[in-house]
Amino acid sequence: MTNAQKWVAAFLLLFVILLVAAKLTTFSDNQPAEDYTYTETDNQETNSPAGLSLINKVGCVTCHGQDLKGTKMAPGLYTASKYWNRNDLINYLRQPSSYDGDERFNEYRQKYQNIVMPSYGNIDVKDLGKIADYILSLEE
Ligand code: HEC
Repeated sequence: MTNAQKWVAAFLLLFVILLVAAKLTTFSDNQPAEDYTYTETDNQETNSPAGLSLINKVGCVTCHGQDLKGTKMAPGLYTASKYWNRNDLINYLRQPSSYDGDERFNEYRQKYQNIVMPSYGNIDVKDLGKIADYILSLEE
C-alpha cells in the first residue's frame, strides 16, 4: 500500500464509523414523537397498500371492529372526521397517550377500561397518512 492508499483507507474507515455513530445516536425510542406537519407529498410515491388494507394489516380492526364501527373494546371510527383533521389524527396515532383528550375521551376511558389505544410511532408517516385519509373519509 502506498501512503496515498493508506490515507484513503483511513478516511473511508472514519466515514463508516461516523455513519454508524450517527445511526446509533438518532435512534432514541424514549423521546416523545415530535409534531410533524404533513404535506400532500407525504402521500406520493409509495407502493404501500392504501388505507383500508393497512388498517387490516396493522390490526386496528381487532379493537375497532371489522367494519370499524366499534366493539366492546374500542369506539367506532365513523365519527372521527367530526373531531380530527389530518395532521392531528396522524399525531394522535403516533402517540395517543400524549393526547389530553376531552369529554369524549373521558367517556371512552370509562367505557373501555383496561384497553389502551396503542401508539403507532413505528409506522411510516406516509402510511399513517393513508390510514388517516381513510378514516376521515368514513361517513355515517
Ligand atoms: C388494543 C385495542 C386498539 C387497537 C389495536 C387500536 N385502537 Fe384505536 N382506540 C382504542 C381505544 C380503547 C380508543 C379510545 C380512546 C382511549 O381509550 O384512549 C381508541 C381510539 C381511537 C381513535 C379516536 C376515536 C375518536 O373518537 O376520536 C382513533 C381515530 C383510533 N383509535 C384509530 C385507530 C387506528 C387507526 C388503529 C390502527 C392503526 C387503532 N386505533 C388501533 C383501542 C385500540
